[in-house]
Amino acid sequence: MSGRLLPRDRDPVDRTDLPIRITVDGEPLTGIAGQSVAGVLLAAGRTSWRTTRSGAPRGVFCGIGACFDCLLTVNDVPDVRACRRPAADGDEIRTQSREERA
Ligand code: FES
Repeated sequence: MSGRLLPRDRDPVDRTDLPIRITVDGEPLTGIAGQSVAGVLLAAGRTSWRTTRSGAPRGVFCGIGACFDCLLTVNDVPDVRACRRPAADGDEIRTQSREERA
């Protein structure tokens, strides 16, 4: 998974570039329709958004929904895999850690 956003004319996917806005811990971010939540975060320069019990940072590891390293809370639903969840306009996202779940 890449944190870069290809220019539309060079992207092999016929995308529309319809803009979307989400918030992450209250911070507004913009993306384009069709991006995953992880894609929006990576494109914004965020490489980690969760911490383990030991405090180690986690973000995207597998990028295909297998490792669960990218978990966050989307619209009050916890443990959503950011790499699998398409971002939607108006999504309210919160990062999460093991400590808050204990
Ligand atoms: S990065 Fe592995 S499940 Fe999302």
